Amino acid sequence: MKFVRNILITGGAGFIGSHVVRLFVNKYPDYHIINLDKLTYAGNLANLEDIEDSPNYTFVKADICDFDTVLNLFKEYAIDGVIHLAAESHVDRSIKDPFTFAQTNVMGTLSLLQAAKVCWDDHFEDKRFYHISTDEVYGSLNQEGTFFTEKTSYDPHSPYSASKASSDHFVRAFHDTYGLPTIVTNCSNNYGPYQFPEKLIPLFINNIRHQKPLPVYGKGLNVRDWLYVVDHARAIDLIFHKGKIAETYNIGGFNEWKNIDLIKIIVKTVDRLLGFAPGSSERLITYVTDRAGHDLRYAIDSNKLKNELGWEPSLQFEEGIEETVRWYLEHQEWMDRITSGEYENYYKGMYSNR
Ligand code: NAD
Ligand code: DAU
Repeated sequence: MKFVRNILITGGAGFIGSHVVRLFVNKYPDYHIINLDKLTYAGNLANLEDIEDSPNYTFVKADICDFDTVLNLFKEYAIDGVIHLAAESHVDRSIKDPFTFAQTNVMGTLSLLQAAKVCWDDHFEDKRFYHISTDEVYGSLNQEGTFFTEKTSYDPHSPYSASKASSDHFVRAFHDTYGLPTIVTNCSNNYGPYQFPEKLIPLFINNIRHQKPLPVYGKGLNVRDWLYVVDHARAIDLIFHKGKIAETYNIGGFNEWKNIDLIKIIVKTVDRLLGFAPGSSERLITYVTDRAGHDLRYAIDSNKLKNELGWEPSLQFEEGIEETVRWYLEHQEWMDRITSGEYENYYKGMYSNR
């Protein structure tokens, strides 16, 4: 079959990537979606079981850092668009092992940029290189009522955010130097189905289910701005098709929560759905040593995206959290399969020094 577009999505077996792959495969049957993923501990093909046999979908297991393989893929599939999500994504891991973050997030992005430049050979019409980044590159907001805009200066504090900031700079440099048609978006914290249970929300749902301690970093007063992952995927679809080349768009839902308040909502919801006495799992809350360099507050101003492209989140937070908790409780086998083996060992190591 001849496809109208051949789109390379990197990191498609991960949390956000799997939602983006699913949306594109289902919505655009005339696009060929090539999912390139190394299948690290965070990559899981079970996230895509429902679409894996679709005629417009191809999975390729490869490392974005392997330039020759990436270049061959560009040529073999005549790639004309890239949506780049592959990354090491967990801040705590970056504190333990910064090298892997620099390697994947910086060198891997550079490898993709160079492959696009070489393969497209200055014929950039109808091409697009879309890099998915994070609000963490902007640093921390210490004053209430302030927001990150697209003009906020970069001020990363963790090895993770430093590596993402560096990759963003490389993407923009490839536009400014070679004319590569790039777009960057910086999004706030995502939540929803298929998130690896090292991240706050699925970790806590799983721990409540097993009645294990809920490790709250510091005093639990850090603020994060939460967006339902499907709304992020919808924004990516819109920006990939309608966003302006060389632009940056912030993505977020104006939905800030102090960690401890969010944790109490999760406890209440899981207790109710599992038939535990209301709020009884609050006794599992355990304050632990704070994350090193823990950013106090993130909050995204996504008005540019709303005003220029008309995007708005579709789901209210209460609805999204209810749906998310239900999903994890209905997919306990998915959770159990990935919370064993390698992850289990890593998780023990994480807390051995606390
Ligand atoms: P994730 O950790 O769930 O998934 C990352 C995916 O990338 C995995 O499938 C993994 O196998 C793959 N990968 C890792 N290294 C690779 C390599 N060298 N080559 C090929 N594939 C590799 O991450 P996520 O939470 O889905 O985040 C996806 C992207 O979105 C990342 O770039 C992240 O920085 C960004 N982001 C995430 C959030 C969030 O809240 N999760 C918010 C804003 C931006
Ligand atoms: O803001 C976007 C970023 O959101 C993404 O770029 C990252 O890839 C993603 O992992 C996420 O980063 P955070 O560090 O904000 O997410 P995490 O779920 O790890 O933590 C959320 C908050 O909860 C943070 O303030 C730390 C705290 N926390 C986290 C864990 C795992 C705890 O208190 N206890 C925990 O066990």
